[in-house]
Amino acid sequence: MIDLRSDTVTKPSAGMRAAMAAAEVGDDVYGDDPTVNRLQAVAAERFGFQSALFFPSGTQSNLAALMAHCGRGDEYLVGQEAHTYKYEQGGAAVLGSIQPQPLENEPHGGIAIERIAAAIKPDDFHFARTRLLALENTIGGRVLPADYQHEVTEFAHARGLATHLDGARIYNAVVKRDVDERTAVSGFDSVSVCLSKGLGAPAGSVLVGSRDLIAAARRWRKALGGGMRQVGVLAAAGLFALENNVRRLAEDHVNAQFLAGGLRALGLNVISPQTNVVYVDVPPLHVTGLQAHLQARGIIATVGTRLRLVTHLDVTHADLTAVLRAIGDYDWKTKT
Ligand SMILES: Cc1ncc(COP(=O)(O)O)c(C=O)c1O
Repeated sequence: MIDLRSDTVTKPSAGMRAAMAAAEVGDDVYGDDPTVNRLQAVAAERFGFQSALFFPSGTQSNLAALMAHCGRGDEYLVGQEAHTYKYEQGGAAVLGSIQPQPLENEPHGGIAIERIAAAIKPDDFHFARTRLLALENTIGGRVLPADYQHEVTEFAHARGLATHLDGARIYNAVVKRDVDERTAVSGFDSVSVCLSKGLGAPAGSVLVGSRDLIAAARRWRKALGGGMRQVGVLAAAGLFALENNVRRLAEDHVNAQFLAGGLRALGLNVISPQTNVVYVDVPPLHVTGLQAHLQARGIIATVGTRLRLVTHLDVTHADLTAVLRAIGDYDWKTKT
């Protein structure tokens, strides 16, 4: 099977499994797991923060960060397209009593500074207290422009807001921009980094931030059910991913370009990928037929009017050639 639904579908490699099997472990709720502690130290150092905390998932890492930044009745500004707003069941509101103020995303994936300025509530008891700006990088495979990142985080801080980055795929931005982690996240007060997307670990995210912020997030992590015990086996996968699977993300980006070029040559409308996500327009009449056609050829994709195809560790150039052949064979004239 060739699975292009997401980069979350990657399976741990033999090397990663060996590192997991060999991991030294302890009870991480007591702070006793040496492998988790090492992962946290490595992440804090690489991203240039005082502290880091390991989470089972990116959803929980983001939520604990939002809850650490904002209290009950506070508000965070967030893009309409952002994962924390749209794809995490509104956890900030449901579990954190934090009001989201969703704002339209710009084509580059950020939120216009004027829009942010207009959304910050005055200090008046009619309003929620605007506390935080949350952005995402990469977002829908797009890399936030460096100048924008600098300006928007300076602006937020000048207006008294904290800044959080959902960096589920920050390493795709690191590799694409060819910068180090510190540069890639400069201006943010906290960053959630996923190890289980393009980096290929089976689970796990790390939140980085100040000592105080991470202490608050640690309390929320326990309340959210994320206090894990001998979880060094997963942290070892994360450390292996950071050591071995970062630079190779460039291959995923090249593969995405190859796929996009091939699809364009087939006459399809393709959005040029910046990293590992390719979007293709599919006429509504063909959504069901194309999905079935691909499935019959061992290709898994979530086909919609905007088809999203994601390249990753477990998809080769040869696989993509097979995908292009399969899509080329599809009969676009037949209405389904
Ligand atoms: C941008 C982004 N943020 C956060 C998450 C949440 O990560 P998890 O699935 O580990 O909860 C995802 C998951 O796909 C994501 O794409």
